[in-house]
Amino acid sequence: MRDQAHLLGYVQHVTSPRPVAIIPSVLPADFSRLGEEVEALAAAGVDRLQFDVMDGRFVPNLTFGPDVIASLRDRTDMPFEAHLMVEQPDQLAHRYVEAGCEMLIVHAEACKHLHRTLGHIRELGAQPAVALNPSTPATEVAHVLDLVDMVLVMTVNPGFGGQPYISTMEAKVAEIAAMATAAGHEIDIEVDGGIGPTTISGAAAAGANFLVAGSALYRDPQGLAHAVSDLRQRAATARGTST
Ligand code: DX5
Repeated sequence: MRDQAHLLGYVQHVTSPRPVAIIPSVLPADFSRLGEEVEALAAAGVDRLQFDVMDGRFVPNLTFGPDVIASLRDRTDMPFEAHLMVEQPDQLAHRYVEAGCEMLIVHAEACKHLHRTLGHIRELGAQPAVALNPSTPATEVAHVLDLVDMVLVMTVNPGFGGQPYISTMEAKVAEIAAMATAAGHEIDIEVDGGIGPTTISGAAAAGANFLVAGSALYRDPQGLAHAVSDLRQRAATARGTST
């Protein structure tokens, strides 16, 4: 009997799809009104907020310090995730947790000791996640899937919003989903970059359930709420979970 229940549990794990989350990048928002922009995103029905943290060294752009994020924390009770596109995430991690980020996403390419860095984030009380740039193979995360709650597959080269979606990353999304399932790890898979009405279905069908969108949300002529619900419906349909 135990074997049957065990097998059923495995099957349910493998077949029960993880919930879709539509996650705005605040990169394209009006930085002079960031508090109102965060509230507007919350009102539009997004699930979490992603802050693209850039240090001008890991990527050729510079954005938010922890104090900016801390100043926004009481504008919404939604989870904050910090996408740390920085050379030395270990030195900064505690500042972003103190600022109110529930999840820290570090780049495998920026970590000399990725396994240790992810463990450090967990010790800080945050959810560890790892991001892979387009040229980085899925095997880079093979030995840390047990340490993370999420893997982010970049679908653009990091640094700027509004870039074209790299569709060849869908194979990497599927590869990571298969690795996680085979190892019995229930993790979320996120994509970020060029996600919009014409690209989200491919990413979701490949296995992504966390979908980060920036410019596509602000480009929708029918407004943020329409953009969010449209993207959510497209992703759920692609994953066979639409209601
Ligand atoms: C790249 C950034 C962007 C941003 C969203 O470093 O991470 O991907 O979040 O960009 P778009 O506008 O393509 O959704």
